[in-house]
Amino acid sequence: MDRWNNKVAVVTGASSGIGEDLVKTLVKKNVNVIGLARRIEKMEKIKNDIKNEKGSFHPIKCDISREEDIINAFQWIKKNFKTVDILVNNAGAVDFGLTIESSTEVLKNIIDVNLMGPTFCTREAVKIMRANNTAGHIINIDSILGQNVSFYGTTAANLYSPSKYALKAMSQVVELELEYVKSPTKVTTIFPGMVKTEMPPDAALQTMPYVDAEDISDAIIYALSTPPHVQIKELTITPVPGCQRK
Ligand SMILES: NC(=O)c1ccc[n+]([C@@H]2O[C@H](COP(=O)([O-])OP(=O)(O)OC[C@H]3O[C@@H](n4cnc5c(N)ncnc54)[C@H](OP(=O)(O)O)[C@@H]3O)[C@@H](O)[C@H]2O)c1
Repeated sequence: MDRWNNKVAVVTGASSGIGEDLVKTLVKKNVNVIGLARRIEKMEKIKNDIKNEKGSFHPIKCDISREEDIINAFQWIKKNFKTVDILVNNAGAVDFGLTIESSTEVLKNIIDVNLMGPTFCTREAVKIMRANNTAGHIINIDSILGQNVSFYGTTAANLYSPSKYALKAMSQVVELELEYVKSPTKVTTIFPGMVKTEMPPDAALQTMPYVDAEDISDAIIYALSTPPHVQIKELTITPVPGCQRK
């Protein structure tokens, strides 16, 4: 991780779960992290918790489903930090209703948060990376539901799977485009199984195996720690079904 010492990372969905754990981990490793999420008060608390660590944390209130919020956030980052070295597209939205019964608003929000938001963040971050000739790293937090559609209880999680399938394809498109423009920036897509955060329903956490947010942070740190010429394209992290946790 030495090459990211004092560098700048943008983490979306920094107010809870995987994003919160990752912010804390990166700041402890001397990275300056800008966190984007709607719950600014939760991010301010996180900032206070890690104020004595080596790096720094700068929360920005940003609704990832709104392009204008994203553009404003990246303008602020460019003005105040000049650079972006790491982007982690982690913010995500799920819904457990049926697609065939959902309102347009619900359907569009899933696509806006899980696909369009990461696309706009990537476009804005890559602009800054290319202008600075940065060998950056873009990490997209996908899901095993972006590899397989599955039905649990009364739900297949609405457009969550379609949005995460599309996020996987978006990662691949961006990787090819970065090669086309001869950028040294890498792209990694992470596919977690169930993680104990605010996202899965309690019934699922009580009956199915899960990993913890820090297990996903560990995978992200592994991908970030590889030398500049090595690209971890994809990582799938699931709980071991036969392992009884204490
Ligand atoms: N937990 C799992 O089982 C699991 C499994 C596979 C993949 N994932 C993926 O992991 C990522 C992180 O989720 P998590 O498990 O850590 O759940 P979480 O604790 O619910 O975190 C979700 C994060 O996304 C942010 N977010 C949601 N909508 C947003 C919006 N419109 N604008 C800005 N931020 C928004 C939330 O912030 P605010 O509410 O403050 O805006 C929150 O920080 C997601 O992409 C999720 O799909 C989770």
